[in-house]
Amino acid sequence: MKIIHTVAEMQAHSESLRNNGQTLAVVPTMGALHAGHLSLVKLAKSRADQVILSVFVNPLQFGANEDFDKYPRDIKNDEHLARQAGVDILFYPSRKELYPEHYHSYVCVDTLTEYFEGDIRPDHFKGVTTVVSKLFNITKPHVAVFGEKDAQQLAVIRKMTRDLNFDIDILAGSIVREKDGLAMSSRNVYLSKAARVEATILFKTIELVKSSLNNGFHDIEALLAQAKTNLKKAPLATVDYVQLVDAETFKPAQSLLQGKAYIFILAVKFGSTRLLDNLHFTM
Ligand code: PAJ
Repeated sequence: MKIIHTVAEMQAHSESLRNNGQTLAVVPTMGALHAGHLSLVKLAKSRADQVILSVFVNPLQFGANEDFDKYPRDIKNDEHLARQAGVDILFYPSRKELYPEHYHSYVCVDTLTEYFEGDIRPDHFKGVTTVVSKLFNITKPHVAVFGEKDAQQLAVIRKMTRDLNFDIDILAGSIVREKDGLAMSSRNVYLSKAARVEATILFKTIELVKSSLNNGFHDIEALLAQAKTNLKKAPLATVDYVQLVDAETFKPAQSLLQGKAYIFILAVKFGSTRLLDNLHFTM
């Protein structure tokens, strides 16, 4: 596995691979790798000759009171896991390399970024779309892989890619879960023992909504009420939002139309740790 730290070397290396007829896939991450990230690497390997994994804790996407300083970092372990997973190139730039002094350029997607995560975390998506655009220009991939775990982020990146004509296929990997159903996340390490036990309430609520939908229960208000009641079973949890949205626009669905894709999304806080989960479904 080749490890690259600079933009210039990464661009030159990608350029030469492309000139040799190789297809490239990038998997952007903030490190603290887990099986969810590694499943994206596997998907990337099935779609390209060379897989680039980027590890960069992007300061731009953290709010002033968020966890940038304490975000888990373990590059030695990430390096080990990336090598085991068959990553060809690990791109691990410094903050100065991506945002040198007097850095002043940003990429913004409107509308879609105004609700839910964008509403609770102002400027979060601006940070994500800026760094992902930079990573696209630096790694020059044919394919980029993101997780369905961050459903709104995925929708925002798809929109940006279309709107700005990035010539890159966006692939989505499904959510990888712990044995008890909790969606894997680098932030799960922040949970107290008691909160970790209660955190399965997200998956249990998803399972409940899924079985209601499968049983032909299609009244949106009633489905959301059922989900909210279920979430009350976890006394340590505070619900940020629970909603059923159109998969593309992230606008709350008014009714469920045959053949259309929707996402049931939920964000729940345990202390200062926010957990996200979702269920994609097509009617
Ligand atoms: P990070 O949280 O490290 O996640 C990197 C990628 O892994 C994202 O596409 C995310 O959706 C995916 N992922 C996380 N948990 C997953 C799980 N349990 N199953 C499947 N995929 C999962 O998301 C980011 O970093 C950043 O915002 C980034 C896109 C790298 C830009 O900085």
